[in-house]
Amino acid sequence: NQAKNKQPQLLVFFGTFVDTPKLGELRIRERTSIGVLDGIIKFINVNSLDPLKDCLDYDAGLSPEDVTVINIMGEDKTGLSSFYFPGFIDTHNHVSQYPNVGIFGNSTLLDWLEKYTFPIEAALANEDIAREVYDAVICKTLSNGSTTVAYYNTIDFKSTKLLAQISSVLGQRVFVGKVCMDANGPAYYIEDTKTSLESTVEVVKYIRETLCDSLVNPIVTPRFAPSCSRELMQKLSKLVKEEDIHVQTHLSENKKEVQWVQELFPECANYTDVYDKYGLLTEKTILAHCIHLTDAEAQVVKQRRCGVSHCPISNSSLTSGECRVRWLLDQGIKVGLGTDVSAGHSCSILASGRQAFTVSRHLAMKETDHAKLSVPECLYLATMGGAQVLHKEDSLGTFEVGKQFDVQAIDTNVPGSNVHLFRWQLPRQEKEKEQEKGLYKNPPLLTKEDIIAKWFFNGDDRNTTKVWVAGRLVHQI
Ligand code: GUN
Ligand code: FE
Repeated sequence: NQAKNKQPQLLVFFGTFVDTPKLGELRIRERTSIGVLDGIIKFINVNSLDPLKDCLDYDAGLSPEDVTVINIMGEDKTGLSSFYFPGFIDTHNHVSQYPNVGIFGNSTLLDWLEKYTFPIEAALANEDIAREVYDAVICKTLSNGSTTVAYYNTIDFKSTKLLAQISSVLGQRVFVGKVCMDANGPAYYIEDTKTSLESTVEVVKYIRETLCDSLVNPIVTPRFAPSCSRELMQKLSKLVKEEDIHVQTHLSENKKEVQWVQELFPECANYTDVYDKYGLLTEKTILAHCIHLTDAEAQVVKQRRCGVSHCPISNSSLTSGECRVRWLLDQGIKVGLGTDVSAGHSCSILASGRQAFTVSRHLAMKETDHAKLSVPECLYLATMGGAQVLHKEDSLGTFEVGKQFDVQAIDTNVPGSNVHLFRWQLPRQEKEKEQEKGLYKNPPLLTKEDIIAKWFFNGDDRNTTKVWVAGRLVHQI
């Protein structure tokens, strides 16, 4: 609740900055200061001697009172165990399914939708229930470091507006979609074509013209081909092109689903061709799953410059299959990570990254080691890959001048957290070494990359101590 009429403050963040500018590359910049004004990175000084001086050098008109210095290093004498990392980007999350997290039994996609998913989505038409769920999911995803999330709500437009409003208050960068489905749904959870289209238009208008928050974006959300008539897809396509809006849907998740789509749309060459023919494949389209694509379909995804949301926890849980991420990346297709709550049982993109790592090893056991994704590659998918999928690679995903300051502060040395760094594994100062003489017999020390790997495999929300979106502190422990 800071006074609105004050001069905007320059924020300067000091410490170690870790990011993944290229697939497979881990960039570690120590003793670095990053200046932020109006949420945007204005300067980056590596090996900074004095962050305050960096600010005054950046703008000679500033006085020290105009600057706020943020230093997360705290007790970290090594400069290794705490660092800033780009906020995670969750490219696929059904916020409305969150009450069902962990509840899926042995179901697979199509029976899971009927048995668990449509009932919970329908229940969220109650505004009190909906509000409670949105609050919980936004707080949970923020505390797990997700600064940007693409949400599917339900078919209900009123509660979708509420979701947009709550996101705006809580300060997460979001894409908010009213789910469209006018075909093959249960009688209690379906809409007609006209209502589906009109309520989508209403939500887009509300977000763009009434809410007017640059962090809240509309996204057109045809659930998946079986839920949508040809007419609905064509009309949504027209809206998307006229109003330049993102699109999200599901593609090729489950073999029975693929077969069903072929039966429902005999005029189309394959599943991908349904979306292509009815105009939904753009450079701002997020395609969740893409597990069973043929070579020809992957080529269309590539040509239309769509992004793929890889949701490995969901894919393993519903036994949908193993997405060939390396195969997609090798073709130059953009890939990010999604939690796919609640088919995915975690709101954490770090957990999704770990599952992406594991699934890639399962593929490697059947194919070759080329399928393996490394830790830096999984972290790339969690940040920069997601930025590409959202067509926001110029403003999100890494630390660069001109990009948004969407960031999480990571502390790997939190007592009681699941990441265990023994004191003798960390580099120590000479004086400490003197005192310890003979005690530790030169034990192997951790490198920076080792510490990041330890965070990747064992970290959770206890290690994400602060989160900023566009320079605004939106979560802290
Ligand atoms: N396909 C159609 N709807 C859904 C959904 O809600 N979740 C997943 N994982 N796949 C879908
Ligand atoms: Fe999904």
